[in-house]
Amino acid sequence: MEVKKLSVANFRNLLPSEVEFCSGMNVIYGDNAQGKTNIIEAIWLFTGAKSFRGAKDQEMVAFGMESAQLGLNFVSGGVEREAVINIAKRRSAELDGKKLKAASYLAGNFCATVFSPEDISTVKEGPALRRRFLDLAIGQLYPAYVELIKSYSRAVSQRNILLKNMEGRLSPNEMLDIFEGEIARDGRKITEYRIDYCKKVTENAAGIYRDLSSLREELEVVYIPSCRPEELEERLYKARNTDIYSCSTSVGPHRDDMDFKINGISARTFGSQGQQRSVALAMKLAEARTLKEITGEQPVAILDDVMSELDPDRQAFILNHIKDWQVFITCCDPTNVKPLKEGKVFTVVGGKIKE
Ligand SMILES: Nc1ncnc2c1ncn2[C@@H]1O[C@H](COP(=O)(O)OP(=O)(O)O)[C@@H](O)[C@H]1O
Ligand SMILES: [Mg+2]
Repeated sequence: MEVKKLSVANFRNLLPSEVEFCSGMNVIYGDNAQGKTNIIEAIWLFTGAKSFRGAKDQEMVAFGMESAQLGLNFVSGGVEREAVINIAKRRSAELDGKKLKAASYLAGNFCATVFSPEDISTVKEGPALRRRFLDLAIGQLYPAYVELIKSYSRAVSQRNILLKNMEGRLSPNEMLDIFEGEIARDGRKITEYRIDYCKKVTENAAGIYRDLSSLREELEVVYIPSCRPEELEERLYKARNTDIYSCSTSVGPHRDDMDFKINGISARTFGSQGQQRSVALAMKLAEARTLKEITGEQPVAILDDVMSELDPDRQAFILNHIKDWQVFITCCDPTNVKPLKEGKVFTVVGGKIKE
């Protein structure tokens, strides 16, 4: 996978521009809040997934504007392709001049793996980061998964609104039955996707982790559902009594988690900080490898401000792994990024991109 050109208009603080990238290492540097992450966020959106920063679509449109337009020329499977994204209230996309059913249908056409400082905390922080890891990785492979997450989340918030409107007194409610049916139906499928993905990624992660750990430790990735998927509808029904007090939904994939076992022991609970960081790194590299196995394409690597967070050994490990990929790397201080190979350097000042 190779990005040739990105064009942006009315996207965050970036001035309208067209940028041509090189096939090797593209370093984007500049002071804080100048627009570095905005550039790579724009590239990332062509994976069809939502923003890796968790931003809502509308938040990415430049302040005061109605819509943003992005264009990407890339090469995939030796073929030059062109994609366009329009972000207004909703996101829409075109690929090679054809309108897609939804922007999520870009998934599987363009792929990228992003490493950001939060990714380093995937193992030790709360479950939301781990679910985000799964959702971004799976969403990039299957447009259907992105749509499932959307309809599932809608059903969960509708159930929550209904519970809230009952003001603490549960009454028989057909609407609640309907939403719980939807939550259970979508939730089961989401769990299946995630369990299947964990199985696929675990082998790659174990291999990479073995290389990274001097102790040759064994890593295993396990998915931990909040309840058995086939029991979800029943569990939702039973949870009504307590969920009504919190006006929230206490079971389902939005409460699931995953754990990483090193030699059979939970890295989240018992791992050293070093082990946890290595696991997080191995997971990211494994995500890229899994993407390549499934799509046949090497994803581009996006490293957002992450190098300064890693010690020299892990920096070297990561750079060594991605040396044959196209890389986008942002940093405040270019001396942090050892020039690995031929590359281009861009500077961003106040949303203006200069080569
Ligand atoms: N929707 C938006 N419209 C205009 N400016 C925005 C929007 N969203 C974020 N920004 C601006 O973008 C800048 C941050 O850009 P970012 O790429 O995160 O910076 P950094 O160079 O530190 O990575 C901030 O100045 C912020 O105010
Ligand atoms: Mg940034």
